[in-house]
Amino acid sequence: MSLITVSEEKCIKCELCIKECPVDFLKMGEKGPEEIVGANCNQCGHCVAVCPTTAIDNKKSPLAQQVDLKEFPKLDEKQAEHFLRARRSIRNYKNKSVPREELTKLVNIARLAPTAGNSQGISFVVVENKQLIEKATEISIQMIEDSPFRDLVEAAIRSYREDGVDSIFRGAPNLIITIADKDLRSARDNSVSSLTYLELYAPSLGLGSCWAGIFEYCASIDNSPMLKLFNIPEGKKITAAVMVGYPNYSYQRLVDRNPLDVIFL
Ligand SMILES: Cc1cc2nc3c(=O)[nH]c(=O)nc-3n(C[C@H](O)[C@H](O)[C@H](O)COP(=O)(O)O)c2cc1C
Repeated sequence: MSLITVSEEKCIKCELCIKECPVDFLKMGEKGPEEIVGANCNQCGHCVAVCPTTAIDNKKSPLAQQVDLKEFPKLDEKQAEHFLRARRSIRNYKNKSVPREELTKLVNIARLAPTAGNSQGISFVVVENKQLIEKATEISIQMIEDSPFRDLVEAAIRSYREDGVDSIFRGAPNLIITIADKDLRSARDNSVSSLTYLELYAPSLGLGSCWAGIFEYCASIDNSPMLKLFNIPEGKKITAAVMVGYPNYSYQRLVDRNPLDVIFL
């Protein structure tokens, strides 16, 4: 099946589509770019996105579904630094569910993150039912009580057991879980990339998030009870998770990390 169509009138043979293609799918022909027999397009959409004259279209990444960049303001250096550094892990949430429309916006950004070889393959389970989250907290605590790193999570166990504090999901009203085929090799990397996009986007909707690492550990164990609890389809695995909700507090300052450790060669 032919994937690309080229307008001979519009094509100026600048070859940008060919130079941009990461998988050598295209070559220049008499009338413009042509597909190389036996090559595989990885659906990245660069050929269509880079064309200065909208001469090329690709069925795997149609021009009609690409958004013109002119619609977006460009962040300057200071704005970009603020955008990235202002994301914090939120561990205090308002007792208010996030509307489904907003949750959908979050996962819709997450699916746009870069993935290994554009493999994508990540699906999302959005948990709106607070009782399921409470049950997952209970199961997580039971599981980490018997885990080899019990000492590291002693405080979480104690605050749950003694004070009934949700030390796993921090009282967040919603949880977003990524799942993937069991045999998708880049599943964890792709999921981390996706949820990082989600975390960075959340503040623009007035939302906060926090990585659910303890839950991830519990969910990654063979035959984890979390698979049944969250109705994960046969053949899929849980690859990552973040809790989401409206933050109770806001921060006045950006924090620093360890000093930069870098070698230039
Ligand atoms: C892979 C991963 C797992 C994490 N797991 C948890 C967790 O289980 N509970 C929690 O409260 N925070 C968790 N965090 C959040 C980190 O503690 C947090 O990112 C770090 O302290 C830096 O703070 P900041 O995110 O506010 O900048 C996790 C973060 C990452 C990247």
